[in-house]
Amino acid sequence: MTDNNASPLDPRLLDAATARYRSAGRFAYHFARGKLGRDPAFAAILARSWIRPDSRVLDLGCGQGLLASLLLAAGSRCRVRGIELMPADAQRARDALGEAADIVCGDIRHEDFGKPDAVVILDVLHYIDYAEQDQVLQRIRAALPPEGVLLLRVGDADAGLPFRFSNWVDPVVTFVRGQRLGRLYCRPLRQWRGALQSLGFQVEVVPLSQGTPFANVMLKGSLLP
Ligand SMILES: C[S@@+](CC[C@H](N)C(=O)[O-])C[C@H]1O[C@@H](n2cnc3c(N)ncnc32)[C@H](O)[C@@H]1O
Repeated sequence: MTDNNASPLDPRLLDAATARYRSAGRFAYHFARGKLGRDPAFAAILARSWIRPDSRVLDLGCGQGLLASLLLAAGSRCRVRGIELMPADAQRARDALGEAADIVCGDIRHEDFGKPDAVVILDVLHYIDYAEQDQVLQRIRAALPPEGVLLLRVGDADAGLPFRFSNWVDPVVTFVRGQRLGRLYCRPLRQWRGALQSLGFQVEVVPLSQGTPFANVMLKGSLLP
């Protein structure tokens, strides 16, 4: 496991990344500021240069497109395509990002993944069942080129109280966002890591819970040329 000390976003970068959400409504703007400002995953993705410049990035379950907005604000030349199930979230992403990203309202279980260089999935896979998770991971592996990268953030079901707290908060946030409540399909970290390794990924595990009460972990899956 790699030690994780990702610093929070620079305030000017936070302002730049969230400004475009003013045009997407009050909820979109305040949600963007809260999430980008507090969630260590976004700062870590930038600080660790996990996504190479000029990459075609596929953001599965992109919500309102926060990753795309952050990359743009940081001056990245990446082109982001996001796939989001909920029409309201996809619309907020489009309202904020316009032509700067490609937002598809669709289901990651069925949408074509295209030819990305990097795939990002932050807090999404536990909404679909175990067989579907494996299918999505297989399709990601098939879509990525040699040297492709997968950033997968999950909760570690072995993490005890922080994991139980995450699982309590998740339905509350889902409800607040006006989404359907359903069963969550979580796995221990060792199973997630095994699933990626069995597909040929070299896996780096980065805990991403500092400053939060959650049990979130980022798995960086790299393919070797
Ligand atoms: C916890 S949110 C995370 C959003 C985004 N990844 C982020 O970090 O800001 C999970 C998102 O996954 C979306 N989602 C869940 N199941 C999905 C599916 N089968 N296909 C596409 N999106 C899905 C939800 O609608 C929601 O926007």
